[in-house]
Amino acid sequence: MLVPRETAPGEQRVALAPDSVKKLVQAGYEVQVEAGAGLAAGFTDEAFAAAGATSSDRPVDLTLRAGVPTEAEVGALREGSMLLGSLFPTRHPKVVRALAARGVTAFSTDAVPRTTRAQSMDTLSSMANIAGYKGVLLAAAAMPRYCPMLMTAAGTILPAKFFVIGAGVAGLQAIATARRLGASVFATDVRPEVKEQIQSVGAKYVGIELRQDAAAGGGYAKDLSEEDKARQRELLAEQCAVSDVVVTTALIGGVFAPRLLTRSIVARMKPGAVIVDLAADGGGNCELSKPGRTVVEHGVTIIAPLNLAATLPADASTLWGRNLTNFILAFTKDRAFVLNRDDEIIRGCLVTHQGQVVHARAKEAVEALNAS
Ligand code: NAI
Repeated sequence: MLVPRETAPGEQRVALAPDSVKKLVQAGYEVQVEAGAGLAAGFTDEAFAAAGATSSDRPVDLTLRAGVPTEAEVGALREGSMLLGSLFPTRHPKVVRALAARGVTAFSTDAVPRTTRAQSMDTLSSMANIAGYKGVLLAAAAMPRYCPMLMTAAGTILPAKFFVIGAGVAGLQAIATARRLGASVFATDVRPEVKEQIQSVGAKYVGIELRQDAAAGGGYAKDLSEEDKARQRELLAEQCAVSDVVVTTALIGGVFAPRLLTRSIVARMKPGAVIVDLAADGGGNCELSKPGRTVVEHGVTIIAPLNLAATLPADASTLWGRNLTNFILAFTKDRAFVLNRDDEIIRGCLVTHQGQVVHARAKEAVEALNAS
């Protein structure tokens, strides 16, 4: 198998860290790591070699990626080989189409089912955890005041008020991180079971009684009804107006970011307040977010980072590599990878196979692309 150097701008991760290379070599695989592939994450070629990575002339049968390949990179994959990474297939239908055309068997870990068995392979959760943590650090660095309460000789500083919107994996980590910094934290979500989880990591829950259920199963949320959206907007406006930092993480179906913070909500916020829009990869939860950029509107700093996990590349690569390794080892028999299409994990995350797009939502996205 091959771990190439990632090429996307800002991508500092590598698909395997040395600890995972070692595990795969022990399991009987030959692992090649392209020269310099781990440098941006702090892993030298020597560290990979010490873990057992080798160079070989044998054709590559499996390529491991941290980022989404470009269409040109797909064209360079060996026909009939396998690709393992996270493709976000509905966001990248052109790449999916190219993979099918190339006859590549592609697995996308963002689509593994949310089951106990698949949890150790779930790159979405690994990266969301990092984003929640780093997002709070970005906010703390950008805000004009302290996070904790401080009693000094010059008097008392009150703790900053954080508001976390969406308390899934990223949101709960954001709450925990803001609490560790000493902030006072409020949070909201639309799935009913989240209230207790918010409280258990030390935040106060705020929310509306929904008229229509918003849980879509598997931990995913549905879009709210128009009536509930209007009621939620009121609550968000009130809570944002008294907050120093708002961290947004809300996604529908794990992919699409609902527009929750309108210009008028931002205009009512305190001058100097900070919004960190962690849903920027899905389009952004704030109407004024510019994905990939930081802007100031109505005196509020709006940070909308893309691929935030890549800014913590050592741990992001370590966790990513372990997720991919757990996937490979779960389907290893007699020291070789076995494609078992009856397995629910494979069924969930197999995107292309034998020239076809086999993942239902990816197929819809490719059909829409072909029709456009
Ligand atoms: P996500 O990234 O799809 O969404 C983030 C959060 O935004 C969710 O909590 C969602 O309810 C919330 N949200 C959506 N619309 C909203 C709105 N209008 N207002 C406020 N909040 C809104 O979800 P994530 O973080 O990937 O997972 C959510 C949950 O799924 C986790 O907390 C966990 O319980 C479960 N999960 C289970 C896994 C497993 O069993 N293997 C793996 C991953 C997650």
